[in-house]
Amino acid sequence: MQKVLLELKDIKKVFKKGSELIKVLDGINLNIHEKQTIGIIGPSGSGKTTLLQIIGMLDQASSGNIKINGSDTSSLSDKAASKLRNECFGFIYQFHHLIAEFTALENTMMPLLVRKIGMSKAKKSAEILLSAIGLGERLDHRPSELSGGECQRVAVARAMIGKPNIVLADEPTGNLDPETAESVFECLLELNETSGSGLIVVTHNHQLAHKLDTVIELRLGKLKYV
Ligand SMILES: Nc1ncnc2c1ncn2[C@@H]1O[C@H](COP(=O)(O)OP(=O)(O)O)[C@@H](O)[C@H]1O
Ligand SMILES: [Mg+2]
Repeated sequence: MQKVLLELKDIKKVFKKGSELIKVLDGINLNIHEKQTIGIIGPSGSGKTTLLQIIGMLDQASSGNIKINGSDTSSLSDKAASKLRNECFGFIYQFHHLIAEFTALENTMMPLLVRKIGMSKAKKSAEILLSAIGLGERLDHRPSELSGGECQRVAVARAMIGKPNIVLADEPTGNLDPETAESVFECLLELNETSGSGLIVVTHNHQLAHKLDTVIELRLGKLKYV
């Protein structure tokens, strides 16, 4: 039996906007196993980003229970929660969010430097990773000197370099033309296969979603396997 990395039990999320209550997640149950890849599809506004933010400990559920590697996360101190977030999760967004002043290499190294891993070791790991995804000749380029697809590949490398348990990608190819989207998606799958992380990808592209082990649709606050 493969190890369960993350368990969500009856997760609900309600936003308060003035006197209005917006019910977004209405009892989400989901497990992700080691090396499992999951695609989440669903209409705009259905709560996909909210769900990823809760999974990645960037937002809190209104109720329900989350276990990471078998341990409940609800009673962690802020400090322990950020340490766990940094070690367990890698994030990729629709827009690359690379630091404009930093090169591809420096952006990729960031998560290791945050963990106080030495400069030369971090540099070496970043070089190996960027070379593996075809950016070996672009190490010293800043984001403004890279194409959209190349920036997104750097964002993928940055998310993976710390060997997170789970990579969370929120519409990672949503801003790219179809051909580039497909090649960035392949790059994401390839690196993920090598690192053996779990992977959750939110995407509007059903064709890409079906390259993953499991596809789930979020609709009216609930998950449905499709
Ligand atoms: N901070 C917030 N305050 C109030 N409502 C929010 C907030 N964040 C998201 N929402 C609402 O929650 C719903 C789901 O949003 P979101 O998770 O971004 O959907 P998706 O990513 O599927 O498009 C939307 O109706 C949105 O307006
Ligand atoms: Mg969203």
